[in-house]
Amino acid sequence: MKFQATHYHLDLLKDSERVSAFFEAINQYSSDTDLAYDLGCGSGLLSYFLSDKFDEIISLEMDSKSYHCAFRNLEKFNNIKVINEDASTYDFEGKADLIVCEMLDTALIDEEEVSVLNHARKFLKEDGQIIPKAIVNIAELVNMQRHYVHWDENAKYEILSKPVSYSKIILKDKINPNFEKDIEFKSDKDHTANGIKITTVTILNDDVVCGPTPMFNPPLLIPIDETEVKCNDLINVKLKYIMGQGIETIETKIL
Ligand SMILES: C[S@@+](CC[C@H](N)C(=O)[O-])C[C@H]1O[C@@H](n2cnc3c(N)ncnc32)[C@H](O)[C@@H]1O
Repeated sequence: MKFQATHYHLDLLKDSERVSAFFEAINQYSSDTDLAYDLGCGSGLLSYFLSDKFDEIISLEMDSKSYHCAFRNLEKFNNIKVINEDASTYDFEGKADLIVCEMLDTALIDEEEVSVLNHARKFLKEDGQIIPKAIVNIAELVNMQRHYVHWDENAKYEILSKPVSYSKIILKDKINPNFEKDIEFKSDKDHTANGIKITTVTILNDDVVCGPTPMFNPPLLIPIDETEVKCNDLINVKLKYIMGQGIETIETKIL
């Protein structure tokens, strides 16, 4: 089967680590196989993975170009309905056994995972599941070259502390998008600290865990006020952002 896709979705399809993690998590799903939602279906690949497990799959895609690709890719499947709508406001007809929502990005800051799931969760059966199940965010103190928020591709930086796991978000729970946390780092060298690195690990289900991949949650580098640190110093940083409102909402303060 040859999938039609936009350039962006083609890059997502070529990211075999990301694709195989979702394939495995969907393949392992076993329960009542009545109704599934694929929110932000893109080219429709995850709906295709769902197609032989569920009686009915409702696949929503907001972007019209991507919707047309998914529609054409999936038109031969009688059990999949592709709809060009915004999943954060869509009035679903029934309650699903499974919601798959891959609108993930580092710490859920830049995409709509949180607002979409805070709405769509009302349309999940009480014992229903969400893929992914959770994310874990990890921070490290760094010395970085660029003094603005950026993803770590081709970026130069040096890690100055052990990783600190600073939050776990269970996607079945209602999520407050306003995130704020004081994080304590212990420096393991003498250097100038001027940033933190955030890495997100995605727990798709109890068995499948996926770290950053080329197209999935690349680590984020965030500036902090420059401070000289000695080995074993403790540095406390307040980190704030609004999930789903973009990297412009990120604020840091050394305490
Ligand atoms: C990271 S892509 C994933 C695509 C596909 N699920 C996959 O795994 O290959 C996220 C998709 O969600 C769509 N999207 C973002 N916000 C949305 C919303 N509120 N409602 C519906 N689709 C949305 C985007 O247009 C994009 O196609």
